[in-house]
Amino acid sequence: GEHSGETVRVWVDGCYDLFHFGHANAIRQARGLFAGPVAVVAGVCSDASIAANKGPTATPEAERYAAVAACRWVDEVAEDAPYETQLAAIDSYRCAWCVHGDDITTMADGSDCYSEAKAAGRYKQFKRTQGVSTTELVGRILKMSDVQGPPVSSVSTFVATASRIAQFSSAREPAPSDRIVYVHGQFDLFHIGHIEFLKAARSRGDFLVVGIHDDATTNHIMGSTFPVMNLHERVLSVLQCRYVDDVIIGAPYKISDHVLTKAYKVDVVCHLRDAPSPLDVNGLDPYQIPKERGIFQEIDAPNSTMTTQTIISRILGQRQVY
Ligand code: CTP
Repeated sequence: GEHSGETVRVWVDGCYDLFHFGHANAIRQARGLFAGPVAVVAGVCSDASIAANKGPTATPEAERYAAVAACRWVDEVAEDAPYETQLAAIDSYRCAWCVHGDDITTMADGSDCYSEAKAAGRYKQFKRTQGVSTTELVGRILKMSDVQGPPVSSVSTFVATASRIAQFSSAREPAPSDRIVYVHGQFDLFHIGHIEFLKAARSRGDFLVVGIHDDATTNHIMGSTFPVMNLHERVLSVLQCRYVDDVIIGAPYKISDHVLTKAYKVDVVCHLRDAPSPLDVNGLDPYQIPKERGIFQEIDAPNSTMTTQTIISRILGQRQVY
């Protein structure tokens, strides 16, 4: 029960399309509604059930299942969860409670998805995260294809606070003997390619630090109206990932001695094999220093051909349905 010290199993379902930090914050908050140990079971709907009730998804179900599983606050993913939350599904995962954000979720016919759980007195809710949603991210991407101009992230209405960043932080500290791995990048529209790369990098050591470039650097590297998500949104997307121990906010594009020694003593710098790594503004290799120090490693990861552009192309490819 809720007060017995036993683990409370909590069901948090959804589509989790273009898995973003609002979704991660939902799962984090779901845990926080209960005292004592909590296990979060994230129910993730299939593509077919979402298509029948809401419309097409931008990320196929296999990627949505994997992205949710990589969230640091998720204990278990229930694949192919029903769109209308049924007590039978919650019970089959031995969950006592069903939790959702304070937005109204309805079926295609307008009925409340949570009526069964509410009637049974097993429903709780938390505050939805303002300033981000799947629809809003799709909107930014559509806008980006229409205009030439400043980064689309400038249209973000998300307000980042230090307390939110602290809530998302792993708060881990490395042990003295821990092997520290460093990677860096833009991590725009955080996706399965990023997750697999971070997982592979984490496996090269004991503590993974991720450098995230600021918006101007990202715009310089990716061009056009990138980034889609601003620095702080990208920081939260990376921090919520279970393979990440810490981030460097606004890390320099050319890896400096400071980055390798001041915050953490970095033992190895990893780069995804064959991923482009353009020269910096001075025409220098961003990995020059770690290469000279013999701590540079190219690593392989599944889905290594996935990029932020893959996500954008999919969305533009189904543009007429939005
Ligand atoms: N959620 C949230 N804050 C957001 C977006 C989603 O708290 N900005 C919560 C939802 O309330 C739900 C869970 O995340 O409890 C999974 O949401 P999903 O069904 O994927 O959410 P949508 O409401 O459709 O969110 P989005 O518009 O981002 O798709």
